[in-house]
Amino acid sequence: MELLQYPNPTLFRKCADVAVGDLASIELAHEMAAKLYEWNGIGLAAPQVGILKKIAVIDLREEPRVLYVLINPRITWRSVEVEESNEGCLSLPLLRETIFRHKTITLEYLDENFSPKVIQRAEGLLSFCIQHEIDHLNGHLFIDHMSKLARARVVQKFKKLREESVLPNTKAVSHENGAQ
Ligand code: NI
Repeated sequence: MELLQYPNPTLFRKCADVAVGDLASIELAHEMAAKLYEWNGIGLAAPQVGILKKIAVIDLREEPRVLYVLINPRITWRSVEVEESNEGCLSLPLLRETIFRHKTITLEYLDENFSPKVIQRAEGLLSFCIQHEIDHLNGHLFIDHMSKLARARVVQKFKKLREESVLPNTKAVSHENGAQ
C-alpha cells in the first residue's frame, strides 16, 4: 500500500460504493488503519492508497481514542453555518491551509460489520476531518475549496517544495500537523 501524492490522477476520481458483505473491503480498511498510524495521519481515504472504493478511516488521536472505519459514508445533513478549518493532507505533504467548511454535519455510514451507524451533529475537528475524507472519496482535495487564485498559488508552493526536494518522506509527517 503506497501513499499517492498530488497530482496523481487517481486522487481526482470518484469512488464506487462498497458492496455490503464484501469482506475484502473490510480487510482493506484495516490495512488503511495500519497505514494511518504508520504515517501519523488523522484520516486516510481509499483513493490516497490507489483504491477507488468508498472507504475511509479516521483517528483524531484525542482521548478517548476512537478509530472510525467508514464504509459508504454519506453526509445527510450540513449546517448552513461555516467555520474556518486549518488543514493538511497526507497527499499534499507540508502544506497547511485554511479553508471554510460546514460547521456541523450528520453522517451515515456502515461500520466494519456493515452495521448502519449515524454520527449526529459532529462538530470541530471530527466534522472537518469527515468532510475532508468524503471530499477524497468524491475526487476532491481540500485545496479545491479555495479560490482559483489561492489554489493555484498553493499548488505552485507545493511544486516548489517538491522540486527543492525538501518534502519529507511520509514517516516524517507528524500527526501534530493533523494530515488527513
Ligand atoms: Ni487528505
